Parts: sequence; structure tokens; C-alpha cells
Amino acid sequence: MKLSVNVDHIATLRQVRGGHDPNLMDAIEEVLGAGAHGITVHLRQDLRHIQPEDLMMIRSNFKIPLNIELAAHTNLNPLLEYIIPSMVTLVPEKPSEITTEGGLQIDDDPSSLKFAIRTLKERGVRSSLFVDPNPSIIQRAISLQPDAIEINTNLYSLQSLGTVRFFECLEEIKKSAGVIRGKGIKVLAGHGLNRHNVPAISTISGIEELNIGHSIVARSLYVGLSEAVKEIIAQLP
Ligand code: PXP
Repeated sequence: MKLSVNVDHIATLRQVRGGHDPNLMDAIEEVLGAGAHGITVHLRQDLRHIQPEDLMMIRSNFKIPLNIELAAHTNLNPLLEYIIPSMVTLVPEKPSEITTEGGLQIDDDPSSLKFAIRTLKERGVRSSLFVDPNPSIIQRAISLQPDAIEINTNLYSLQSLGTVRFFECLEEIKKSAGVIRGKGIKVLAGHGLNRHNVPAISTISGIEELNIGHSIVARSLYVGLSEAVKEIIAQLP
């Protein structure tokens, strides 16, 4: 199981004061040096953390899997003229939300998702859909034939460890991963994961990659970025 580190909140801290501190390039070097497989960034429409120049900086300095999260209704062409990431994860995005609030409502606009997946494929970019762990929604996501599906672990992450609800949420994620497995679509998972709730997720077979941001950046205040990344990697099979 691989780890892609979401570095949005390193950029959030930088944006609070403007300027270059903390330096995103140094931070990514440290994250990769600690063993992360790739980097994820969410280019929000309000540019509250990651800036378009950050994408250019990452692409020109690092030959690593770069996953860009984008609002599902974004016009992809201007971005793809400017940068070719390894993967684009389509997410729902509301201007007022603090973080992504849930998975895509596939049935709201399947044809625009289909169009986005096709546009990405034509440009050699893998596509991923961020979806809640609900087997029937997962089935509908599979029917759009993305390259990957990222299972939203947010509800799971909100539960106290070891409670009945925690295990129920874990089971839903396990079932969802089972529905995707064997269909030629990669199974990813993320949102709200941390060093305490990753061990149970890491037992689910078929999940190939976790996408973790906030808890790593928060933990780095105490142990440093490199150690915060290593603590997660140490839990992965
Ligand atoms: N996956 C998706 C689709 C996200 O939108 C986010 C948050 O940007 C994450 C994973 C990472 O979540 P967290 O920062 O809570 O680890």
C-alpha cells in the first residue's frame, strides 16, 4: 500500500502570510525523502492554498506521481495546456466548505464526469473519482470506467477507535473496495486518515494507495515532517 501525501496545508500556512515560508519545494523534498510515493494537491477554485505556480514548480522539480484534485465541473483544458499531472481526482467542491465534504453525487451529472474522464484519457492523464463508501454509488462510479476510485474515509475517520460505528464504517469501506476489486480500476482511499486509524484500513486487501494530508502536517509540528510521514508508512503493508 502506497502513500500519496497531500501538501495543501503546507501551502495554507504559507498563504496566511504570503511569501515563501514554509517553502513547498523543501517540504516536498522532505516528504519524498521519508518514503512517500507521490504528492497530492487540491487546486481549489478560490486558490486558498495551492497556487497554479506550485503545480509548475512540482512538475519541473520532481519526477513523481502527481495527483491533482479538482472540482468535478472544472474546465480541464486550460489546466492540461499548462501542466500534465499523473492523475486528476474529480471531487465535489463547494466554495464555503472547509474541506471536501463528501463524495461525488454520480447521478447528478454522469455525462460531465464521463466527458472529464475521456478528456483526461485523451491527454494521457489517469482519472480518479472520489466516492462515498456506498456499494451502489461505487457501482455507478465503476460504470463510468475511471482509472481509479478513491473511497472517502471521512465518516470512518470521525468515529472513535474501536466503537461499533467505527467497525461498521470500516466494513463499508471493505465492502466498497471488494466491489471495485477485479474490475481493472485501482482502489484508493483517503480523507481524515491519521496514524491511529490507518492500521485498520491497511488490513483491507485491494486498497493500493492512501491519500493523507492534514494529520501529517499537524503531526509534523511535534515530530517534524519526515517523521510524521514515516509514522504512517510504518503502518502500511
Ligand atoms: N482525498 C480527497 C479527495 C480530499 O479532498 C482530501 C482533502 O483535500 C484528502 C483525500 C486528504 O484528506 P486529509 O487532509 O483529511 O488527509
